[in-house]
Amino acid sequence: MKDIIHNETVDAIIKRRTVRAYKKEQIMDKELDTLLTAALWAPSGRNSQPCHVRVLQDKKALDEINVDFKNLVGWDTPAYTRWDVNPVYQTAPSVFFIFAEGNSHMDAGLMAQNITVAAESIGLGSCIIASVGTLMNAPEGEKWKEKMGIAKHWRFLIAVAVGYKDEEPPVKDRDESHFAVIKQLP
Ligand SMILES: Cc1cc2nc3c(=O)[nH]c(=O)nc-3n(C[C@H](O)[C@H](O)[C@H](O)COP(=O)(O)O)c2cc1C
Repeated sequence: MKDIIHNETVDAIIKRRTVRAYKKEQIMDKELDTLLTAALWAPSGRNSQPCHVRVLQDKKALDEINVDFKNLVGWDTPAYTRWDVNPVYQTAPSVFFIFAEGNSHMDAGLMAQNITVAAESIGLGSCIIASVGTLMNAPEGEKWKEKMGIAKHWRFLIAVAVGYKDEEPPVKDRDESHFAVIKQLP
């Protein structure tokens, strides 16, 4: 292990894990507002702030989105979720859906990371979810965009499921061989 500086931010980044089992209880409004503030302060190219966020806390709607998703991709596609029986929103009570008019994937990714790290720092679990885009960006997803007040031609970019953890996931490997510090090129 490298000799690094530890503080709350660095430790939250290191300790964050993808959580795929959540308690049923909804997160508190103050926790939600903290995550929305973390999302708001994400950087964006030229400060264009292209992302529009809808936090869905409606369990019935999340279950219906899961059914629409599974009907589209198939009910035995573990590649899309951890288990083929697992809902696409991972049983979380709150899901942030991030949309933009263009392909602002970078901006959305940074916003998602802000949300996940902030969630970890206040003791919440989170899971970044791209797979639901298969539904949201298909004609079958247009009704959900409409219900969430998002124009049909806007793209879903990424989602983040958030809630109280009901599991402590194991640490996954990271490959340090992908990193190199070059003090001087030959
Ligand atoms: C861009 C992106 C998309 C992801 N999409 C999904 C997804 O659709 N469903 C899911 O269960 N996990 C998804 N994940 C979670 C990854 O599987 C997880 O981050 C990875 O396995 C590393 O585990 P860790 O986050 O615990 O370190 C996604 C993560 C990222 C960064």
